[in-house]
Amino acid sequence: MSIDHAHYDEKLAGVYDQMYPVTADTEQAVALIADLAPPGGRVLELGVGTGRIALPLAERGFEVHGIDGSEAMLAKLKEQDAKGAVSTVLGDFTERSTGLRFDVITVVMNTFFSAITQEQQLGCLRNAADQLAPGGRFILEAFDPAVYHTMEKQELSMQPLGENGVLLNTLTVDRSQQIMLGTHTILDGGPPETKRHLLRYAFPFELDLLAKLSGLRLVERWEDWTRQPYTFRSTRHVSVYEADTGESAGSTPCTG
Ligand SMILES: C[S@@+](CC[C@H](N)C(=O)[O-])C[C@H]1O[C@@H](n2cnc3c(N)ncnc32)[C@H](O)[C@@H]1O
Repeated sequence: MSIDHAHYDEKLAGVYDQMYPVTADTEQAVALIADLAPPGGRVLELGVGTGRIALPLAERGFEVHGIDGSEAMLAKLKEQDAKGAVSTVLGDFTERSTGLRFDVITVVMNTFFSAITQEQQLGCLRNAADQLAPGGRFILEAFDPAVYHTMEKQELSMQPLGENGVLLNTLTVDRSQQIMLGTHTILDGGPPETKRHLLRYAFPFELDLLAKLSGLRLVERWEDWTRQPYTFRSTRHVSVYEADTGESAGSTPCTG
């Protein structure tokens, strides 16, 4: 099953920045990523989208690269990047490497779960491990699935899109597959069109195992971008991995 990038079409790209405006959380994400990279270091964002995170990172003097599977989202990024500060590649981050090495690689806001099979998620993590420079960090932000995993009924939510539009969202969970089916319908006076979007969620302990199988080792987990501790109450996590060189205490082979 390949990734379906049709979801992020021109229409969604056109309203994306209204759906996810820059907030304090965005600024905190940029600050933490910047803190984990050396000054002027090289950063790669997987699923870079319209540049919500990548553009402010470039403004801070990092060499920022982004990969995304949606032409429409990358076109929107270009529109907002007059100086061409962010280098972009059109492609699937579960399959494609940039061929470069990075001090920080990041995938934010549940974008990792767009890889809708375990194999695709492993592909993403292996690619990240291969593209890390020595001492580099891979930072993954995702929701904690606990609350969704027990969801029985379809949920409906609405979001204003400026003064003249509304976004209708539905969410259905199939916990037997760890799959969420979301729909987005933009109501803006034009013919309404419903787009489907799948996510494969994974609990943090599965992520850590997939990461380990991909040559990565968890070094930090916080509940947000301000480094609050991750606890049983946390509804999301910001997890930091490094290359697993096999030098940690736990890696001693069993001789029993
Ligand atoms: C929720 S948006 C996040 C955009 C941006 N990172 C942000 O924080 O605003 C997810 C983005 O990831 C891209 N994407 C999802 N899965 C992908 C994949 N396997 N390969 C490349 N891009 C992908 C989508 O096209 C979309 O632009």
